[in-house]
Amino acid sequence: MKRIAVLTSGGDAPGMNAAIRAVVRKALYEGMEVFGINYGYAGLVAGDIRQLHHNDVGDMISRGGTFLYSARYPEFATEEGQLKGIEQLKKFGIEGLVVIGGDGSYRGALALTKHGYPTIGLPGTIDNDIPGTDFCIGFDTAINTVLDSLDKIRDTATSHVRTFIVEVMGRNAGDIALWAGVSGGAEQIIIPEKEFDMAEVATKITEGREKGKKHTIIVLAEGVMNGNKFAEELYKFGDYHARVTVLGHVQRGGSPTARDRVLASQFGARAVDYLKEGKGGLCLGIVNNEIIASDIIDTLEKGSHRPNVALYKLNQEISN
Ligand code: F6P
Repeated sequence: MKRIAVLTSGGDAPGMNAAIRAVVRKALYEGMEVFGINYGYAGLVAGDIRQLHHNDVGDMISRGGTFLYSARYPEFATEEGQLKGIEQLKKFGIEGLVVIGGDGSYRGALALTKHGYPTIGLPGTIDNDIPGTDFCIGFDTAINTVLDSLDKIRDTATSHVRTFIVEVMGRNAGDIALWAGVSGGAEQIIIPEKEFDMAEVATKITEGREKGKKHTIIVLAEGVMNGNKFAEELYKFGDYHARVTVLGHVQRGGSPTARDRVLASQFGARAVDYLKEGKGGLCLGIVNNEIIASDIIDTLEKGSHRPNVALYKLNQEISN
């Protein structure tokens, strides 16, 4: 292929700019032309497409967000939207596409693949909930952002001998809660993948106090329930006046960590390698520390995301 395009879609994730940069720089290195599509699939359908040059991605590796902008665009689930998108790509003479995003973005890439259009998916979401990879672009930065907040909350929690419930993002996945919780030394981690019993949560708080703990930090994944509701439910089991912190969209922003920048660079460059050879219908991942490509149809239709639930058990053993 000689002419390719790149778009970012769905919730933004730190490191998306680093991935776009890698796609652009590697394509230019290989003598290809590269186009950027603004606002994800919405921009694709509208034909909001422009050629990208070397300097368009200068100063981008350290920036959070996505300079191509992003959008959630449910209309791309329709065949009409998909065919319109392909028509726009053909109009610009674009032979292959790199899609950087999460779950919804991958479904769009899958649809394009099924229409025979060469597409490569790169996993970019703080939720880390994409099948075919151990880690997604943006996850490492997000957990470090949460960790920073947990360390600060611990200071005030200890001073006042308080219990804190910290609600984190992740949609239906518990990865952010697990990794941030373990690294932040949270007393308890509540995730959708593991059932919990509120009476046990309460007992553990009491046991911690009896052991001399000055704080209790409970990291709660949003996929379980919201933090205020959790605090209300907990109060039914005794005089537990838990403070609630909802970290929200702060988890999506910020300069990407070194790990996210490297991962994004590896994925972006590898995607160009495949498109150069005329190969599409793939999604990239990092599995056991190796960059791999798998068939996007198989991965999405048969695979599922598996969080590292061993971390859950580890936390129970070492943190209360
Ligand atoms: O998928 C990323 C994510 O931040 C989720 O963790 C969260 O549930 C959702 O997006 C929030 O979506 P929005 O930014 O559209 O409110």
